[in-house]
Amino acid sequence: MAPGGWALGRLLLTVAVVVTLPTRPAGSWGTRIIGGHEVTPHSRPYVASVKFEGQHHCGGFLLRARWVVSAAHCFSHRDPRTGLVVLGAHVLRAPEPTQQVFGISAVIRHPDYQPATHANDICLLQLNRSAILGPAVGLLKLPRTGARPLKPGARCQVAGWGSVSDFEDQPPGLMEAEVRVLGLDICNSSWRGQLSPAMLCTQSGDHRRRGFCSADSGGPLVCRNRAHGLVSFSGLWCGDPKTPDVYTQVSAFVSWIWDVVRGPRPSPLPRTTESPQDSREPQQHWVYK
Ligand SMILES: *[C@@H]1O[C@H](CO)[C@@H](O)[C@H](O)[C@H]1NC(C)=O
Ligand SMILES: *[C@@H]1O[C@H](CO)[C@@H](O)[C@H](O)[C@H]1NC(C)=O
Repeated sequence: MAPGGWALGRLLLTVAVVVTLPTRPAGSWGTRIIGGHEVTPHSRPYVASVKFEGQHHCGGFLLRARWVVSAAHCFSHRDPRTGLVVLGAHVLRAPEPTQQVFGISAVIRHPDYQPATHANDICLLQLNRSAILGPAVGLLKLPRTGARPLKPGARCQVAGWGSVSDFEDQPPGLMEAEVRVLGLDICNSSWRGQLSPAMLCTQSGDHRRRGFCSADSGGPLVCRNRAHGLVSFSGLWCGDPKTPDVYTQVSAFVSWIWDVVRGPRPSPLPRTTESPQDSREPQQHWVYK
């Protein structure tokens, strides 16, 4: 298309977006991650950004110098060979000297990941070289094996560069929000019995809207300095207590993770990551973040 035609197409698209935008619900103006705040730069040095076409797409955390843990659904419609992993960032878009950028040499999705039910929404990314650990780039531990599950009400923090409102406003830097673990039974009732066992839910613990939002997917839920959850999905409106935030429960995957990380080198990336199963759309009210 000629440049003029392209500009017109873009303009029409912009107008269409403006026309279809829903009205902002009260309280969503100026919220962060959703109800969170900007972290002290590099205070969570393990948080990774997965980018496609120069745009932040998902989060993750650094487990080993060559391994990042993220959510399987982040790669459902993407060719990982075109993705980049950024570590050591605070303001993602700025040319920060602390940033280290990697290619992805392998994505190992959990073999039982089910796009339709969101069960086992976890994957491991092998970086194309080792991260250099330092003040801005560090590792996050997995939950202790055999440790008791987190009790409802336990305090955790979720971090990411995802949207800070339902309208995809960009954050000033890495954001975090303090949330409380919600019992899986109560959460399952809110979700009309659609949750699987290896999931973990959080709520704000007060009457504020607080939790994760679009593009926080794959990022860590940190409880007692360990990665207990990976952002998976929530409802249409970020932070809505009627659809509590749902994470992949990392403690259920510790032995799988170590088998992959310590095991034989993964086979090269397949030519395409899309399988017919992946292209199934999630049910309407589930929204991957
Ligand atoms: C790793 O990937 C990055 C980004 O694609 C590239 O710039 C870099 O040269 C690669 N490094 C190695 C050692 O392959
Ligand atoms: C959620 O509830 C449904 C329906 O009662 C049940 O089949 C399912 O096992 C429950 N999930 C969990 C994680 O308890």
